Amino acid sequence: MSPVRVFQCSRLEGTVYLPGDKSISHRALLLGAIAQGTTTVSNFLPSGDCLATAGALRDLGIEVVLPDSHTAIVHGRGLRGFRCPEKPVNCVRSGTTMRLLTGLLAAQPFESTLTGEEQLLRRPMERVASPLRQMGAHICTMNGYAPIIITGQNLRGACLALDVPSAQVKSAILLAGIYADSPATLLEAAPTRDHTERMLGAMGVNIDIRESKGIREITLIPPTHPLLPLEIKVPGDFSSAAFILAAALLAPQSRVRIKDVGINPTRIGFLDVLYQMGADIRITGERIMANEPVADLEVQTSELEAVEIKGDLVVRMIDEFPILAVLATQARGRTIVRDASELRVKETDRIATVVKELKRLGARIEERPDGFEIWGPSQLRGIPVSSHGDHRLAMSLFVAGLVAQGETVIDDLDCAADSFPGFLTVMQSLGAHYVQY
Ligand code: S3P
Repeated sequence: MSPVRVFQCSRLEGTVYLPGDKSISHRALLLGAIAQGTTTVSNFLPSGDCLATAGALRDLGIEVVLPDSHTAIVHGRGLRGFRCPEKPVNCVRSGTTMRLLTGLLAAQPFESTLTGEEQLLRRPMERVASPLRQMGAHICTMNGYAPIIITGQNLRGACLALDVPSAQVKSAILLAGIYADSPATLLEAAPTRDHTERMLGAMGVNIDIRESKGIREITLIPPTHPLLPLEIKVPGDFSSAAFILAAALLAPQSRVRIKDVGINPTRIGFLDVLYQMGADIRITGERIMANEPVADLEVQTSELEAVEIKGDLVVRMIDEFPILAVLATQARGRTIVRDASELRVKETDRIATVVKELKRLGARIEERPDGFEIWGPSQLRGIPVSSHGDHRLAMSLFVAGLVAQGETVIDDLDCAADSFPGFLTVMQSLGAHYVQY
């Protein structure tokens, strides 16, 4: 863990390509493992979290090869190809790894245990265990938390309404549904990211998606044939682009172009909010990559206005609230975030940690049970702050450091690599100044 000292920045300029999308990279490995044949994933994200998925799959007898830093090759062994792990499977700090694997393992003919580091052992797991039990799964959590013990069962189809708007829970159910004896239907009141549905569709699984009266109904018909392996290029991660967008909006006289960014509508609520705030961002070259929409984003320094965020929009930008909070400190007026209590069960309690650290920097921010309120603009002042080991908080504090007067010292930016390896190098290439001890 090495602290980073960030300096106020006068201008950011340049063109960047970002590492691959985290959610898509996880899914490419997991679904590749149950495909019949070899899946090749280029622009794979070699982040801490995705490497945790690769390691977990190896523990389950799947050969995952990383021939270079942005390619993954998965030698899929078909729907019944997992081997019983010899020891508890370590999901490290990755909630996506643990929750999606719970769905997959619920249907395997062996017992397995999923565990991880302390940060992950503090995150709720009943949200995934409970709906899977309704499909016949046998899953024990430790008072709602990992380690999770899964005794594989023959699963049945079910019609389930999602209690929490979570793509991880939805994906776990869909993965279990592949093995069920009849169709599984899911009802989503607030549409969450749909990468699993898109990828399963491309692999030949019959997934029917309808929408009526604001409810999305997703039905998966258990396949009677092997899943097709894929050859995919992962789009750049919009959630990583969010930090670059924010930095370029705030640093004076900036102009930055970000190439090949995923703009899946279930992911870009933050972009809608930025437009509402008055951000100057142009979307060009829209195209399809790996069954996902992508585009280039061009952003320049903008005067920002406060916004109010609530309801379904929260779900479509769930990972972007730490960086939104930084932007709001520089926007004119009162920004209000409601309906976002899910933030309390992310890598950290992101309502508490964001409020605490931005206050230290001089922001006028107050915690609310389901969000926060921020009054801007306020002049931030550099001071030692803590990322609490949370990758998105770490990168948000770095961006805050670019506008804060003086020097901001962040205790741990290494954790940024959980989702955005190379974050500092990308920021440096655009003109940001920092020193790492
Ligand atoms: C993810 C879904 C989101 C998000 C996480 C990745 C995924 O979590 O916060 O970073 O890949 O499915 P929830 O679905 O639990 O909100």
